[in-house]
Amino acid sequence: MGDTSIENLLREERTFPPPPGFAAKANAQPDLYAKADADRVGYWMEQALTRVTWVTEPTVALDDSNPPFFKWFTDGELNITANCLDRHLAAGGDKVAYHWIGEPGDKRTLTYRDLADEVARFANGLTSIGIGKGDRVAIYMGMVPELAIAMLACARIGAAHSVIFGGFSADAIIDRVEDASAKLLITCDGAWRRGATVPLKDNCDAAMESSPTIEHCIVVRRTAQDVSMTEGRDIWWHDLVAGQSTECPAAVMNAEDLLYILYTSGTTAKPKGIVHTIGGYLTGAVTSHSLVFDIKPETDVYWCAADIGWVTGHTYIVYGPLANHTTSVMYEGTPDFPEKDRLWSIVEEYGVTVFYTAPTAIRAFMKWGTEYPERHDLSSLRLLGTVGEPINPEAWMWYHENIGGERCPIVDTWWQTETGGIMISPLPGVTTTKPGSATRPLPGLTAEIVDTDGNVLPEGSGGFLTIPEPWPSMLRSLYGDDQRYIDTYWARYPGRYFAGDGAKLDEDGYFWVLGRVDDVMNVSGHRISTMEVESALVSHPAVAEAAVVGAQDELTGQAIAAFVTLRTGYDESKELHDELRNHVGAKIGAIAKPKSIVFTPDLPKTRSGKIMRRLLRDISDHRALGDVTTLANAEIVQAIAAHAADYDED
Ligand code: PRX
Repeated sequence: MGDTSIENLLREERTFPPPPGFAAKANAQPDLYAKADADRVGYWMEQALTRVTWVTEPTVALDDSNPPFFKWFTDGELNITANCLDRHLAAGGDKVAYHWIGEPGDKRTLTYRDLADEVARFANGLTSIGIGKGDRVAIYMGMVPELAIAMLACARIGAAHSVIFGGFSADAIIDRVEDASAKLLITCDGAWRRGATVPLKDNCDAAMESSPTIEHCIVVRRTAQDVSMTEGRDIWWHDLVAGQSTECPAAVMNAEDLLYILYTSGTTAKPKGIVHTIGGYLTGAVTSHSLVFDIKPETDVYWCAADIGWVTGHTYIVYGPLANHTTSVMYEGTPDFPEKDRLWSIVEEYGVTVFYTAPTAIRAFMKWGTEYPERHDLSSLRLLGTVGEPINPEAWMWYHENIGGERCPIVDTWWQTETGGIMISPLPGVTTTKPGSATRPLPGLTAEIVDTDGNVLPEGSGGFLTIPEPWPSMLRSLYGDDQRYIDTYWARYPGRYFAGDGAKLDEDGYFWVLGRVDDVMNVSGHRISTMEVESALVSHPAVAEAAVVGAQDELTGQAIAAFVTLRTGYDESKELHDELRNHVGAKIGAIAKPKSIVFTPDLPKTRSGKIMRRLLRDISDHRALGDVTTLANAEIVQAIAAHAADYDED
């Protein structure tokens, strides 16, 4: 990955001014920052009134009477699906909403009219089985159009969705279903992945054994694999929608009603249910999607190559693009199936103009080599984006040269599940970019770097990334746990949202986000808690104690490095190493399998018994070991270091 130290990044000083041709036609104009600064809350009210269609227009923008429980547009009424579907139908119902490509090569095209009809039919189906306003619906699916349809159908009738990434395990489903008391689970028989199928329904069956709140499970036929259907509980999607009307009135919702819950990893083993409400979230999504991706609904073919199971897919595959009447590409499978040029062949075939992916994917493309993009005509592309982790300048330059043909601006977008939408990003056509920097907060948004005492630091400093002012698409709380919401985000620096990231601010006021400063790892752009993996490990009978850290990794940004002490009677072996990895996979999901597991007779601990993770990180990154004098068991450190590579995965 090269030297990504901030000093090196700053020393490089490569800058890329907006291409003049792009700037002349850009949605964003330079004066937007000053306009928003002059009246930040007024700016958001204007976005809400001009970009969102309301049943009852709001008269109040921000309600900050009870911080940190901020509310936006509180007296507004709307339905998000009326914004994503109905308002486009009269003049643009024939426009394509999604060009969907299945991994095996099958295709579906859904116009806005098709999508509206499917959403109405499924929404009526949901009503027919007793789902209504305020209910929570868990969705565990692959990347098929029915996933977006299910989310929209919930929103249509005022139920909240909780999408669970299809790579998670049955245990992960149980935790999330239980936390939200979900009544319904929507899934597929299976999902295609690299030519094989993932048993989604089987995982749901295992989860439902321990999920008493689930009354029904709706199943989409996708892979045609055998699944068992429990009479009275399980319903095929096609049976539920058969005969349903394509008319379904949109429930009138308050702006602050619950739209969805999305679970993300925190610093404890229990995932946090991030709560997003309708009006502010939509305002943030529709505004940022238009400005950051410069969306021209008439001509763009936009592709956010994320999974809808993460927030990127919620905001930038479903709600933002649909609200902006965009034509999107949606792809079911992996980038290397059947060959490593799959994405570029899709770009060529559909004439994709705007493409958004993660730095990890770009680093994989780099590793595979330029021969794959070179096989295809990528000249339709005009704008590129990245999200999910810091992008190293080498990857940025590779993307710029080999995918963007040196003509496409790159937007490096910093945001989080909690922020609901993009916070720090260049405005294409306006901002001069620097490889590795997400540049500045978008108009109407703020960010500041503080030191450990909460003092705001000037340009040229490094510290903790905070957001001092509330914003429309911010999380409203953690589901069912207001206190944890306060403690996690607002207690460390009173009056400021603490993002959990470290960042530097350069002399030009550009932010360089460096990564998490808490016990959350970022593996291939996915957030995984060290505690979650540790508790999965210690739930195995062989494990007495476990410590997990994020090690630097050339491809995935961070990799999960585990250190394990075995119970008496168990001996280390390659078999046990593999078994423990699979155990974590079964407890959480394949993305949480440790890349390396080091067996050690003890873990390095302070005299008060605290595990010294800093030392474990140093060992994993092959750095010189720092001060060990405070350790109760200093000798163990050398022993661990000597064994560090015993069972490394390649
Ligand atoms: O550490 C930051 C990193 O991803 C975290 C948020 O993860 P999640 O909630 O899963 O959302 C990911 C997609 C929005 C952040 O705390 N992150 C995200 N984008 C960037 C980033 N780090 C550096 N640069 C980015 N552009």
